[in-house]
Amino acid sequence: MKNKKVLIVGGSSGIGLNLAKKLELKGADVIIASRSAKEKQSELKNLSGLHSSTFYSVDITKEEDIKNLLKIVGNIDHLVLTVKSPLVSGSFLELNPEDVRSAFETKFWGQYNFAKLARKNINKNGSITLTSGTLGVRPYSGYSTMSIIAGAVDSLCKALAVELAPLRVNSVSPGYKTLEELHDKIPLGLGSDAKMSNPYLFLLEDSYLTGTSIVCDGGATLV
Ligand SMILES: NC(=O)c1ccc[n+]([C@@H]2O[C@H](COP(=O)([O-])OP(=O)(O)OC[C@H]3O[C@@H](n4cnc5c(N)ncnc54)[C@H](OP(=O)(O)O)[C@@H]3O)[C@@H](O)[C@H]2O)c1
Repeated sequence: MKNKKVLIVGGSSGIGLNLAKKLELKGADVIIASRSAKEKQSELKNLSGLHSSTFYSVDITKEEDIKNLLKIVGNIDHLVLTVKSPLVSGSFLELNPEDVRSAFETKFWGQYNFAKLARKNINKNGSITLTSGTLGVRPYSGYSTMSIIAGAVDSLCKALAVELAPLRVNSVSPGYKTLEELHDKIPLGLGSDAKMSNPYLFLLEDSYLTGTSIVCDGGATLV
């Protein structure tokens, strides 16, 4: 990762922020983007111990924002997307389809459009890493929206791995880090940003992986 230019969209918080710290330690040139990343840059540097990362604003639901950001950052080696959509939960029969669509706008269409628009900015031997979620393969009642988005992202990953080769396209499917009621049921308990950022590093560094989704869930999908 030394001197590799890595753009993390959704890197101002959680898993993406933790990944940014690990990449900085490996000598990567890290660029963090999200709606609030630029305005929070001092706070993020102070609290998170980031030193060399640069920060930009982007709303992944806005095509013009994505284009402007790509113009500013220019060529990159790796694109990582860790954006989270607002949680839409509740019984399938009672959900408002507009809320479901709006969650797709961020996490599905955001990653889809970013991958499409950024393709030309990504250097030879580069990669795109998307984020899905284990709800895509192990649904829970009340979370159908997150399940169908996660499933769609993993399918997008496989389709792009075929179509954009030799560019590598992979995804990480995180399990749970906040649902306390699941802690005792999951073989290895709840995850954390630090645990869930590791598979991204592996996917970035391994030049023979493409179309792969790494489940990082402490065994949650098994129970
Ligand atoms: N945490 C879990 O247990 C779990 C489980 C399954 C899947 N996942 C997935 O893993 C990924 C990361 O989760 P996390 O817990 O690390 O999330 P997080 O801490 O909430 O971080 C989400 C990031 O997305 C950015 N973001 C949200 N909307 C955006 C937009 N419209 N445009 C640009 N950036 C946007 C946020 O920054 P701004 O607010 O500044 O835009 C933030 O940097 C998400 O896709 C999540 O669904 C997590």
